[in-house]
Amino acid sequence: MDGSVAPNAVAAVSQERQWDRLMQMAKIGAIPGDGVNRACLTDLDRQARRLLISWAEKLGLAVSVDALGNLFLRHEGTDPTLAPVLTGSHMDTQPNGGRFDGIWGVIAGLEAVQALREAGVRTKRPIEVVAWTNEEGGRFAPGCMGSMAYAGFKPRDTWDGVADNEGLTFGEELKKLLASEADIARRPLGVVEGAAPFAYVEAHIEQGPRLEAEGLDIGVVEGIQGSRWFIVEITGKTDHAGTTPLKLRKDAVQDMLRAIAALNELMHDPDDVLRFTVGRIEVNPNTSNSVADRVRFTIDFRHPDKAVLTERGDAIERVIKGALKTGEATVTERFHALPATFDPMVPAAVETAAKAQGLKTLRMPSGAFHDAQFMVPLCPTGMIFVPCRAGVSHHPSEYSEPHQLAAGARVLTAVLADLANR
Ligand code: GLV
Ligand code: MN
Ligand code: MN
Repeated sequence: MDGSVAPNAVAAVSQERQWDRLMQMAKIGAIPGDGVNRACLTDLDRQARRLLISWAEKLGLAVSVDALGNLFLRHEGTDPTLAPVLTGSHMDTQPNGGRFDGIWGVIAGLEAVQALREAGVRTKRPIEVVAWTNEEGGRFAPGCMGSMAYAGFKPRDTWDGVADNEGLTFGEELKKLLASEADIARRPLGVVEGAAPFAYVEAHIEQGPRLEAEGLDIGVVEGIQGSRWFIVEITGKTDHAGTTPLKLRKDAVQDMLRAIAALNELMHDPDDVLRFTVGRIEVNPNTSNSVADRVRFTIDFRHPDKAVLTERGDAIERVIKGALKTGEATVTERFHALPATFDPMVPAAVETAAKAQGLKTLRMPSGAFHDAQFMVPLCPTGMIFVPCRAGVSHHPSEYSEPHQLAAGARVLTAVLADLANR
C-alpha cells in the first residue's frame, strides 16, 4: 500500500467483514434468485436500519436521524466543530432488486470508518456515514427524496401525500418510521436547518458494463447525467370488446401506443446518448375483454446535456397530446434533476487514492442518478464506482465480487482520511 494515505487503515479494511455484512443485509427482503425487495419505509427497511444501527453502536459511532428519516453514523474528528466529510448511499432497493445497489455504499462507509478506528487513525474532521431515505423511488416516486430535502432542493413536506400501490402515503409511513426510531437522537435536517458538509463521497456499483469490459477496478466519477420523470394519464371510454365498433371506441391503450410511437420519434438519438424509457404501465379496467378507459404510464428521460434535457423534456406534453386520436392526456412532471458536474477536488482524491493502491481507474460519468447529484450545490462531491457483472443492476442477478467491493472500500478509506484532514 506504499504511497497511499493512511496505509494502516487501508490495510485494516476487511473484505470478509464487509461481505458478511452485505450478505446479512441481503437476507432482509430476500427474493428468489439472490435478489432483494426492500422498499423504503417498510418493516424490512426498519429491520435493515436496526441492523446498521446495531453495528454502528457497537463501534461507538453516534447515531442520529433527521426529519426525512435520513440516518447518520458519526465518527468524531479531533476538531468536532469542523464540517464533516459525508459518505454513504441508500438502503432501499428496487422491487426486483439486487444485493449491492445502494447498500454497498453504506456498508463501505461503515467499513472505512471501522478500519480507521482499528488502525488508530484520527482525522481532524468528523466523518459521517449516511443512509438516505427513498433513493429508488420504487414505492414512493420520485427517488432521492431524502437527499433532495437535506439539500433544500425541495421543502420537506413536498411528498407527504405521495401514495404507494396500496394507498399508504409517504408522510404517514415516514411518521411510523420516525416513531419506531424514537430512541435515536434527532438531528436538524441538512443544510435547511444545519450546515453543509465539507465534502461528500458516495461508493456505488457501476450499474453499467464499462469497468468490467475494460478490465478496470475503479470508476472515478466526474458527474451525473440529468433525469426527468413524468407520469402520463390518458383517458378514454370503456366498452365491450366484442360488441363495440372501432369507430365508437375511445380506446386508451391504442392512444397510448400512438403517444409512445410519437415519443420514440421525439427521443430518437442516432448517437445513443439519450435514454428514454417507458417502464411502468397501468391499464384500467385491466380485463382482456374490455376496452380500456384509462392508462397511466411513466416516462424516464435522461441526458447529460441540459439543453437537450430541457428542449425534449419540455416537448413531451405537446407531442403526446398531438398524437392522441380519441382520448385526453394529462402529463405531470415529478422529478427533474439537472446534469451535475463534480468539483474536481473529490474525483482527484479518488484517482490519487486508487492509483496509490495500484488500481486501474477510469474517469467516467454516471448514467444512473444518485443522491450525490443533490450534494453538488452544497459541497465538493464525488463517487467511487466498482465493476458489476455484465453491468446488470436493478435485478436479482446484480453482482460484484467480494474483492472488487473490498478494493472500493479501501479507496474510500483513503479518500475519507485524506479529505477529513484538509
Ligand atoms: C437510480 O436508481 C436510477 O434509476 O438511476
Ligand atoms: Mn443506487
Ligand atoms: Mn438503483
